[in-house]
Amino acid sequence: MPRHLLIALAAALPCLVPALLSAQNSGPARLDSPFRPPVNFTDETTAPPIPADVTDDRRVARNYPEQPPVIPHNVRDYQITLNNNQCLTCHSRQYTGASQAPMISITHYVNRDGQTLGAVSPRRYFCMQCHVPQTVAQPIVTNTFKDVDSMISRPSDGGDRR
Ligand code: HEC
Ligand code: HEC
Repeated sequence: MPRHLLIALAAALPCLVPALLSAQNSGPARLDSPFRPPVNFTDETTAPPIPADVTDDRRVARNYPEQPPVIPHNVRDYQITLNNNQCLTCHSRQYTGASQAPMISITHYVNRDGQTLGAVSPRRYFCMQCHVPQTVAQPIVTNTFKDVDSMISRPSDGGDRR
């Protein structure tokens, strides 16, 4: 073989190896994730429909006493502005007689200095900072949370947890 051909082959080798390797893989890269369907990375899929809110008006038990209860009703278009807080038109003390909504608890009247005010405290004004509706979506990751009651009633393994 002529010398210059050998040199040309040697120079092309680094380019040929990756090409040969990738030829063994089948198709473009796939992204397998529990958060999206198994599709090719380059494919566009239609977005799944936004799950509906749970609006059955049934209050949900809290997982621990300090949990802000989740909202069991529709909150669409309820406005919270400087002059108007629509949540309070049902949940503030003076309107619960007419609305039959549960009253915001005493903690909502306490300011950051521990003083109890006559009206809702500014730090509790934006209700949905803490209270959120739930949707009918199924969790993509299993939740293994156990509340304190099931921890206490767990059969004893010899340890003293009192
Ligand atoms: C039209 C009256 C009304 C309005 C407005 C309203 N709520 Fe309610 N809310 C209720 C009633 C009544 C309940 C009791 C459960 C039910 O009937 O849905 C309730 C329940 C709740 C609960 C559950 C309480 C618990 O102890 O489980 C939360 C949290 C809540 N509402 C937050 C809000 C927030 C935040 C807003 C504003 C975005 C709001 N609500 C606006 C009437 C209202
Ligand atoms: C900084 C977080 C936070 C904000 C903001 C907030 N809450 Fe709460 N809310 C809580 C927590 C925590 C609880 C449960 C413990 C308690 O009562 O303090 C609660 C309890 C409640 C309850 C149940 C009371 C009871 O006695 O069963 C209602 C109803 C409620 N909130 C409505 C509202 C409304 C309406 C607003 C807006 C005006 C609001 N919350 C703003 C944290 C918050």
